[in-house]
Amino acid sequence: MSSTEKSISKVIRERRATPSFDGAPLAEKDLNQILSAGLQAPSGYNMQPWRFIVARNAEQKKRLRAASFNQAKVEEASVMIVACGDADGWRNGDLEEMLRLGRAGGMTESYAEQAKEKIPTYLSTHPNMPMWLNRHVMIAFTHMMLMAEALGYDTAPMEGFEEEKVREVLKLPLSYHVVALLGIGHLQGPDKHNGGRFDMARTVFEEEYGKPMRL
Ligand SMILES: Cc1cc2nc3c(=O)[nH]c(=O)nc-3n(C[C@H](O)[C@H](O)[C@H](O)COP(=O)(O)O)c2cc1C
Repeated sequence: MSSTEKSISKVIRERRATPSFDGAPLAEKDLNQILSAGLQAPSGYNMQPWRFIVARNAEQKKRLRAASFNQAKVEEASVMIVACGDADGWRNGDLEEMLRLGRAGGMTESYAEQAKEKIPTYLSTHPNMPMWLNRHVMIAFTHMMLMAEALGYDTAPMEGFEEEKVREVLKLPLSYHVVALLGIGHLQGPDKHNGGRFDMARTVFEEEYGKPMRL
């Protein structure tokens, strides 16, 4: 951690969904650190089904804005990261790459053999592939969002987009699902109000449903 990076507690406390960005460029090394943080996220069987399209070009951000209900911050952000999941990554080399990396890190041959059998069965019969992708992509997305905040940037997560239009702008393959958009940059103008959060008693239960967690 560099001395200027914010602590995780401070990041979580201070992060707000940014209403408007000033458009100043984002340092290349920071973008690298943000993307790399996302790629460190955990995933089922380490299958890493996320894919990210980074839009920095003004024309491309303008097209993305048009695909995102004309939300101005899509064009204003220094960088827009379009977070996607690839339903077919495992069929197209991800499984072999996961096994190669695993073996390099000490995965046993018996685990590798089992994984080679089990993963294709699991994924080819998965009852809800969009949900499976979403589950993983959003963890990587959140890693990126929090890393950007730790580096002193402001962020805007977005679900306000039309998937078909985004697919067209980005020329996405059919196996890609668009999960969410992340705007990164610096806040312009006043920040949004703090919407507050539900009490723990409303959202966390202890041991079984209905027994509020008390700490
Ligand atoms: C997955 C997701 C999608 C969102 N989509 C949008 C969006 O399309 N447009 C927008 O202005 N804000 C969007 N938001 C921001 C939320 O409105 C914001 O996070 C919420 O009001 C709480 O505010 P806070 O993040 O500043 O605490 C989204 C947030 C999340 C996590």
